[in-house]
Amino acid sequence: MKVLVTGGAGYIGSVLTPHLLSLGHKVTVLDSLIYGQAPLLDCCADDSFEFVYGDARDERLLKPLVAAADCIIPLAALVGAPACKRDAIGAVSVNRDAVVAIAKLRSAQQAVLFPTTNSGYGIGQDGIACTEETPLRPISLYGTSKVEAEQFLLESGEAITFRLATVFGASQRMRLDLLVNDFVYRAVNDRAIVLFEAHFKRNYIHIRDVARVFSHGIENYEGMKGRPYNVGLSSANLSKAELCEAIQKHIPEFVFSESQIGEDPDKRNYIVCNARIEGTGWRPAFCLDMGITELIKAYRIVKQRQFGNF
Ligand SMILES: NC(=O)c1ccc[n+]([C@@H]2O[C@H](COP(=O)([O-])OP(=O)(O)OC[C@H]3O[C@@H](n4cnc5c(N)ncnc54)[C@H](O)[C@@H]3O)[C@@H](O)[C@H]2O)c1
Repeated sequence: MKVLVTGGAGYIGSVLTPHLLSLGHKVTVLDSLIYGQAPLLDCCADDSFEFVYGDARDERLLKPLVAAADCIIPLAALVGAPACKRDAIGAVSVNRDAVVAIAKLRSAQQAVLFPTTNSGYGIGQDGIACTEETPLRPISLYGTSKVEAEQFLLESGEAITFRLATVFGASQRMRLDLLVNDFVYRAVNDRAIVLFEAHFKRNYIHIRDVARVFSHGIENYEGMKGRPYNVGLSSANLSKAELCEAIQKHIPEFVFSESQIGEDPDKRNYIVCNARIEGTGWRPAFCLDMGITELIKAYRIVKQRQFGNF
């Protein structure tokens, strides 16, 4: 397959791109490198890899790239509520309008696989897991822009959407703002954390399983298209406090407490049912404990050294 990945130099794309190359796909990444990042350098020796520097909103740029692809994975986005709040126009134009533009440029024979966030489920009902039929109630601009893009794609009947749980694990373009990555970083470096909304539950998924679910979607596209799929660890619908307990098993000195020091802009407090994606034969290969072990190792490499002599 010839795969076009917009935003492919980001946190997920930097793991997904080498994964797709390893399976024999030809991958073109379009990315404007908004964080000044330089991942994917190790892909450049591969003849099946192409990188285009540019903006995913530029239709003149998109047109020939979309035309040349069998499959398009639009990852480019301003990701997370704080980034979208800082640049509201950018959030709507990248997260929604650029995805709609891709959907209009491609033909029905070209596959689209789109990641959105399961934070659109917002405040869930106690003890009841959110399925793909549960109404979406996004609150932040990040949530609404992603949900609107997803709706447009699903209405065409010719796309797969993955409602990803909070992703964790190491990537060449590391993100420390994701819940598990953030908590393990604090546990390693500070040995302490103060939680707000400690009982709020979320679902989690390893970044390599995200790469694996995309290749599963490519391989099973005809049978899976036209529907959204929750993608998370059924073994990990955990509150923030339970997540900290899981980290404590690896770092016994780590302590945590709770105080009313903040509020989640997306009010994420829900448990998620992943039965639909599991019903397609897909299973995650990485559990939370494997991710915590990986992150502890990664944080021996990722250090904020620039403002200290030690
Ligand atoms: N990480 C998660 O937990 C998670 C969960 C659910 C959904 N997602 C979705 O997965 C996708 C990737 O997320 P990520 O975690 O890798 O984030 P990221 O911020 O690391 O990656 C986004 C990439 O998009 C690029 N980009 C932004 N604006 C662009 C533009 N106008 N033109 C071209 N490139 C542009 C950035 O340079 C970056 O490389 C996003 O669509 C996000 O909404 C992520």
